[in-house]
Parts: sequence; C-alpha cells; structure tokens
Amino acid sequence: MTSSFGKTCLVTFLLLLFIGQCVGRPLYQLPSTIAHRHKQPLQTSRPYNVAHRGSNGEYPEETAVAYMRAIEEGADFIETDILASKDGVLICHHDVTLDDTTDIANHTEFADRKRTYEVQGVNTTGWFVVDFTLEELQSLGAKQRFSFRDQQYNGKFPIITFEEYISIALNARRVVGIYPEIKNPVFVNNHVKWADGKKFEDKFVEMLQKYGYSGSYMSKEWLKQPAFIQSFAPTSLVYISNLTALPKIFLIDDVTILTEDTNQSYWDITSDAYFDYIKKYVVGIGPWKDTIVFPRNNYLDRVTDLVARAHARGLQVHPYTFRNENSFLHFDFLQDPYAEYDFWINKIGIDGLFTDFTGTFHRYQEATAPLSHESKDGASDILHKIASLINSYTRG
Ligand SMILES: *[C@@H]1O[C@H](CO)[C@@H](O)[C@H](O)[C@H]1NC(C)=O
Ligand SMILES: *[C@@H]1O[C@H](CO)[C@@H](O)[C@H](O)[C@H]1NC(C)=O
Ligand SMILES: *[C@@H]1O[C@H](CO)[C@@H](O)[C@H](O)[C@H]1NC(C)=O
Ligand SMILES: *[C@@H]1O[C@H](CO)[C@@H](O)[C@H](O)[C@H]1NC(C)=O
Repeated sequence: MTSSFGKTCLVTFLLLLFIGQCVGRPLYQLPSTIAHRHKQPLQTSRPYNVAHRGSNGEYPEETAVAYMRAIEEGADFIETDILASKDGVLICHHDVTLDDTTDIANHTEFADRKRTYEVQGVNTTGWFVVDFTLEELQSLGAKQRFSFRDQQYNGKFPIITFEEYISIALNARRVVGIYPEIKNPVFVNNHVKWADGKKFEDKFVEMLQKYGYSGSYMSKEWLKQPAFIQSFAPTSLVYISNLTALPKIFLIDDVTILTEDTNQSYWDITSDAYFDYIKKYVVGIGPWKDTIVFPRNNYLDRVTDLVARAHARGLQVHPYTFRNENSFLHFDFLQDPYAEYDFWINKIGIDGLFTDFTGTFHRYQEATAPLSHESKDGASDILHKIASLINSYTRG
C-alpha cells in the first residue's frame, strides 16, 4: 500500500517535471544543490547493486523516472548507455535504433527517416539515434521494451541527456554512483562528427570531468562521486585511460559476438594473456552471466573458471543482467530471484551485478547482509535531515 502510494506520488511529480520541461524549463537544477558532507556514503561492504537502465522492470528504461525510482529503491549505482545525437549531444539510450523503446513509429513526421546501416557487421534497418537532433529526440516518448511489463507509462517520459542523468545522481540525498557505457563507439564515430575534431570518447570523458568525476577507484574523490566507465570496445577503454583515472569495466558479450573494434572472439578476450594485458587499463570485467556459468536446456550446467581467473588478477566481476521474470530465470531457481542472487553471491562470489529490479536485489541484501548506518552514524543522520530541510526551503 505504502509502496503504491509512493509510486503514484513519484509519477505525479515526474509528470509535473515533464510538463515543466515542455514549456522550456530545465528538468533539473545543475549542479547538485546538496552538500556532500551531509550525504550517506556509498556502501562498499557488499556487492554493488547496479540499477540496469534504472528501475526498468517498472518504468521505461533510461528515463528520469526509472533512475529516480532506482535511487529510491536502494541502488548503489545507476547504469546507462551513452549515444550521440546527430548534432553531437550525448544522450542516454541503449539501442542504436529508436524502434523498440520509443514511440517513433507513431511520429509520422519522421516516417521518411528510416535507414539501413551496418552495425557490428549486421545490416540493421530502423530509425537511428544518430540521424536525429537532440530537439527531435526529445519530442519522442520512451516506451517499455518488454510486452510483459507495465505499459501504462509508454509515451509519457522523454529521452534524457547524459547531463540530466548525471544531475539525477548528484542530486540524490545519499551518494549514488553512475555507471555509463561508451555505447557502440565504432558506429557513433562513423556517423557523428564534432566541429572541434574530437571523437565520441573525448566528449564522453569531458562530460564526466565537467561535473567533477575524476578519482581512481576508492580514492577520496571517487567515494564522493563514484563512477565506473564501461565498454564492450577495448580500444575505447585503453584510449580513455590516458584521459581519466576513473575505474573502467570491460564488458564481455555472448560467446558468439566478436568485439566491435578489434574483432576478437569471446575466447580471445577471456584468455589469461588477454586478462594480463587488459588489467593494466580496467578494474574489472562485466560478463554476460551465461558466459560465467554455461546453461544447458535452461539449467545451469558448466561453471567456468572465469571469475577465479579474474579475481586472481585483482579484477572485479560485475555480471549482467538479473531479471525477476521467470522467462529469464534458469529452472534451478524455481522462479525465485532470491535463489538466483544467493547462488551468484554465495557460490560464484561476484563483486556487483546489473539488475532490472533494483528493489528486489536491495531487499535480498538487506535481508542477508544488512547495513547498519543508524548505529554507525546517528549524528550524521540528524545533520542530514536538517540539511535536507534547509535545502528544500532554499530551493522553494
Ligand atoms: C501508437 O499509436 C497507437 C494507435 O493510436 C497506440 O495504440 C499506441 O499506444 C501508440 N504507441 C505509443 C508507444 O505511444
Ligand atoms: C549490407 O547491405 C549492403 C547493401 O545492400 C551490402 O553491400 C553489404 O554487403 C551488406 N552487409 C552485410 C554485412 O550484410
Ligand atoms: C597515451 O599517452 C602516451 C603518452 O603521451 C602515448 O604514448 C600513448 O600512445 C597514449 N595511448 C593512447 C591509447 O592513446
Ligand atoms: C572478424 O573475424 C572473423 C572471424 O575470425 C572473420 O570471419 C571476419 O572477416 C573478421 N571481420 C573483420 C571486419 O575483420
């Protein structure tokens, strides 16, 4: 009851923000209005709860409402995919096309904008993000990707920019990290050009620096504004290692997919020799979970030594993607997402995970490894409450 009431309030609030944006006001105050010293710190004692595309199990992925909900539900990090618009603005969107997660098909004014491009060796047809200006992208409404999830928010929330996403994290009342992906860099650099001759990766890092994200893993600066940078393209991660000390995560796809930049197979990039090379640039790997434990007939089958070999080199392992629905759970787990979390945390021993249902994972962790901030830091809690009162007063 409380939860559905909270949900209604959040949606009403966001709808008001959205209407606000339509009449030309910015969505969020930039930068953060909340002083760091009053914020509850990032928890670092248990595996990271990474909200995959926000709370996209509930709301259309990568929208403001999905991210704010994930923060409310206990995310340690909010995760996103960065692409670039035709006019070079960095935005949050997963697919290179708009077809599956926006209402573009209903926008007759864009009917002639459909194209076919080669994306990672596959001819793909659709409406491509890189063919639309930011203004055009913002005229679209996001929609839920999966037909079995709640459709009632379709068309109600806009695509957000990288800046808006950052400001959502910075304006949270506790320290919430960001986890942006340099998405399809080969494709983006082929289609989007910046006047200053810089490339997608440069623009990506510049944006993080503009908002003060700079520290290496677990440094004082990092704990204040935690961020992981992720990519499937190893050359992008190596390239930006000259630009920023922020920790990087090398994503590993399904065994059938070759890397988009170096055209290497899953077997190449998970070899001992490759781990020895890439560990100079990254703090961890982000593998598809079925490549850590190979399934057969939808049962868990062969547990690989991927996690052991990564850990032996000091690399963290943050697998993806955990989803509550039975269609995504292996039969071993008897339709119980808690059983799946228990397996991955206590048997496999991962360091963080990407989930579509941050609230479920948070409740699992609070039930099995609760954090005790109250007893640890009662005084700062009271200061925090006072600070938020002052903030809401001065903002009003
Ligand atoms: C597109 O239009 C159809 C027909 O009016 C409507 O049923 C559907 O909900 C719309 N889709 C979106 C994503 O808005
Ligand atoms: C994509 O289509 C173009 C034009 O028809 C063709 O030349 C090219 O070989 C195709 N590429 C792939 C990977 O199928
Ligand atoms: C990083 O900088 C060094 C020194 O300037 C340079 O030699 C190296 O090629 C650069 N690496 C990349 C990946 O750009
Ligand atoms: C990538 O590697 C595959 C298999 O090794 C090969 O068939 C393909 O031609 C390569 N593609 C490119 C673009 O080099």
